[in-house]
Amino acid sequence: MLTPVLTDNWDQDRSWTLAAYEDRGGYSAARNALTMAPDDIISAVKDSGLRGRGGAGFPTGMKWGFIPQDNPKPKYLVVNADESEPGTCKDIPLMMASPHTLVEGVIISSYAIRANHAFIYIRGEVLHVIRRVQRAVQEAYLAGHLGKNIHGSGYDLDIVVHAGAGAYICGEETALLEGLEGRRGQPRLRPPFPAVAGLYASPTVINNVESIASVPSIIGNGADWFASMGTEKSKGFGIFSLSGHVTRPGQYEAPLGITLRQLIELAGGMREGHELKFWTPGGSSTPLLTPEHLDVPLDFEGVGAAGSMLGTRALQLFDETTCVVRAVLRWTEFYKHESCGKCTPCREGTWWLVQTLARLEDGEGSEADLDMLLDQCDNILGRSFCALGDGATSPISSSIKYFRDEYLAHLEHGGCPFDPAASTVFA
Ligand code: NAI
Ligand code: SF4
Repeated sequence: MLTPVLTDNWDQDRSWTLAAYEDRGGYSAARNALTMAPDDIISAVKDSGLRGRGGAGFPTGMKWGFIPQDNPKPKYLVVNADESEPGTCKDIPLMMASPHTLVEGVIISSYAIRANHAFIYIRGEVLHVIRRVQRAVQEAYLAGHLGKNIHGSGYDLDIVVHAGAGAYICGEETALLEGLEGRRGQPRLRPPFPAVAGLYASPTVINNVESIASVPSIIGNGADWFASMGTEKSKGFGIFSLSGHVTRPGQYEAPLGITLRQLIELAGGMREGHELKFWTPGGSSTPLLTPEHLDVPLDFEGVGAAGSMLGTRALQLFDETTCVVRAVLRWTEFYKHESCGKCTPCREGTWWLVQTLARLEDGEGSEADLDMLLDQCDNILGRSFCALGDGATSPISSSIKYFRDEYLAHLEHGGCPFDPAASTVFA
């Protein structure tokens, strides 16, 4: 059931070094790619069916194809390595264990879109990751994989590793660009999409770490190999990050379409003596699901049909000891804190959501607060400037849909009916 490709070398001794990576054939796909026509690489990525691994699932090859080649401005590749969604933990381990897979992917992808400058924008708090990727880039320069006339191909590429300043909103692609240009990280109006006017108003491809890291394996093994895995419209494999009340939390790389039931089995089951109560398929901004969704195929279509989103495949699992109201309150506090303040529905709305949720968690509200919460969500969803506002409403509306009785139990009990010590998360 597991398909270790990106995670294949994670257990190797000093897997993050150039020597270890090259021992396993690393950089051979980039050498091969530099002999190909750039458009053939774009076609291969289109044919593979690779869809963006940052959450939205936009077809990667199609995005590259949007870069206008008749535009005389420089083209840029930007890797979004600002992984910050609660529960999401795939890009950071990937960069720690195998930074050269990312660097090799950047070389191939930049060459395909005819960019001579690439940026890897890494979340500011993870200094150890920034250092590791910087070191890998340095090693790649020294070995001639980067710089001028790479391996005699006539192609030049420079990579800049940029440290963010620790704002969740800078994972939103246009806020990231603002940050990269030295301004306060707040989203820009789209369109124009970055592919048309991105960094320094030039055509820019922005892709998630895992998307770019998947490219060497596609070039190395062929588009058909990649497309042979996964489901009809969600091809290939992905890293599923399991956290919470599971016996062996961690990253499990598997074909898209695997189910949570299968993943829990691979992870040794739920913690002993406990049962799954609710879970997120792709981080806290994707609507909650319940045990009735254990057999939903974890691909873009399957999770969508179940009323949620695949998102970043950040599977956070909670057993019956966890208070759903408390969990949702914690996530909402996060969104309130991280709201960039640019638009009123999100800036003011997330504040109101926290007030209302806190009142309910303390058993001090009334049943009317539940309808007010849904009304507040309704005034944020679809009315916010970017996806942060929309995402903030997902755990709230879905938790009321599935656990309305638990909200009411707080009111009847005059406070939270759960023992915070029993749950090892959100205690
Ligand atoms: P989106 O669907 O608006 O865009 C996805 C990508 O496709 C973007 O790169 C966009 O530029 C491109 N695109 C879309 N339509 C296009 C067009 N007509 N022409 C050219 N390019 C086009 O999604 P968005 O708002 O960029 O991202 C939201 C997603 O981010 C959510 O689904 C969520 O799962 C994910 N997310 C991930 C986090 C993380 O830590 N990895 C954190 C928070 C959210
Ligand atoms: Fe900023 Fe929130 Fe508005 Fe996005 S939705 S622009 S994060 S205030």
